[in-house]
Formats: sequence, structure tokens, C-alpha cells
Amino acid sequence: MPFNHNHHYHPLLLRQVPEGAKTALDVGCGTGLFARRLASGGLDVDAMDPAGDVLEVARALGSPGPGRITYRHEDVTRAALGTYDFISAIASIHHVPFETVTALWKALAPGGVLVILGLAKPRSVPELVKWEIVSPPLNLAARIAVAVGERLNGGRDPAPGPPVADWKMTMPQVRRESASLLPGRTVRTLFFWRYLLICRRD
Ligand SMILES: C[S@@+](CC[C@H](N)C(=O)[O-])C[C@H]1O[C@@H](n2cnc3c(N)ncnc32)[C@H](O)[C@@H]1O
Repeated sequence: MPFNHNHHYHPLLLRQVPEGAKTALDVGCGTGLFARRLASGGLDVDAMDPAGDVLEVARALGSPGPGRITYRHEDVTRAALGTYDFISAIASIHHVPFETVTALWKALAPGGVLVILGLAKPRSVPELVKWEIVSPPLNLAARIAVAVGERLNGGRDPAPGPPVADWKMTMPQVRRESASLLPGRTVRTLFFWRYLLICRRD
């Protein structure tokens, strides 16, 4: 499965899983790498995505156990959510209205944790400079590294990648909207336009 920059943050996200957690929901699971990591930590995971072809790839990759993975071919904005100790959304919240975070928060069990690895649109001049000047060579370098890796590993992976969507919100909008929707959340800027939102339900 090709590397994408979000994978780099999986260890950071896994550290947010609350002690004793048994159940998890991964929203927009794509090909399921993070769901498999949660399952290998012993959590039973609902891994949700409306992209059927991508879910087929995820299913074919199986589950490492000991936790069980249930792939749900669903849109999170319409799905009936259960109750979970841990909910993650990695690079997927910009695909849905941001208010969806309220439903995710309500689906947390007491003591549960919601983590969102999100992508925000640049707004200020320094952010635009990074976006326009720094990111093209970085992206090119990443593409070359991935292409070399694929060649060394026997060619390009024919599996479909997860769908992508435009990032609509800027970082100040994310901070403002999350402040009104999620009591007690923290929002941290990560590399460039990635942010980490963490919210625990007491
Ligand atoms: C950029 S991909 C990220 C995939 C995966 N989380 C990862 O980090 O590799 C965004 C994913 O969100 C999914 N998605 C889009 N709309 C969604 C929705 N309404 N409900 C749940 N997932 C959705 C897409 O199908 C896609 O797989």
C-alpha cells in the first residue's frame, strides 16, 4: 500500500486511545491501514467509508487481530452510529460538513476520545507562500520516492486510492467552529496545513 503523509501521524493518533478502550470507529477508513493498527492493539473497529472499491481493497487485506474489524460501506453523515471508546477521522472530515463532529462526539462513550487529523486551507500570506512555493518541490520529492519504492517492490499498486476532496476550511475556521461544537477540544497545528483535534467526552 503506498505511503501517504497521514500515515506518519498514526503513532501520534494511537497514543490518544484511552486506557482500557475496547471499541473504535474509523471514519473514512480508506484502505484500512489505521483500522488494522487499531485492531492489532486489541480494539474492535467499525471502519466506515462510502467508497466501495476502496473498501474492497481494505477487506482483501484482512485483519491482523486480535481485534475484529467490521467494514461499513456507509456515509458517516447518514449512518446510525453506535457508541465507541475511540473515534478517529484521518483526512476525511473535509469530505463532510464540519458539524458532523457533533454526531461523532455524541457517539463517544464516557471517557471516550475523538481524534481528527484534518487538513485546512491556507489563508495567511506565509501559509500561501508555503502552499505555493514549498509544497510543489516537496510533493515532487514524495512522488519520486513513492515511484522508486513501487518500482523496487515490483511495480505500481493497481489498487484504487481513497477519493480526495478540496479542503474548504481555514485553520481559524476550524478553531472557531470546533470551539462552538466541541466542548473541551484542543486543536494543534501539525506540519503545514495539517491539524490535530482531540476531544475527550467526560
Ligand atoms: C483522503 S482519504 C483518507 C483515507 C484514510 N483515512 C487514510 O488516511 O489513508 C478520505 C476518505 O474519506 C472517505 N469519505 C468521503 N466521504 C465520506 C463520508 N461521507 N463518510 C465517511 N467517509 C467518507 C473517502 O471515501 C476516503 O476514503
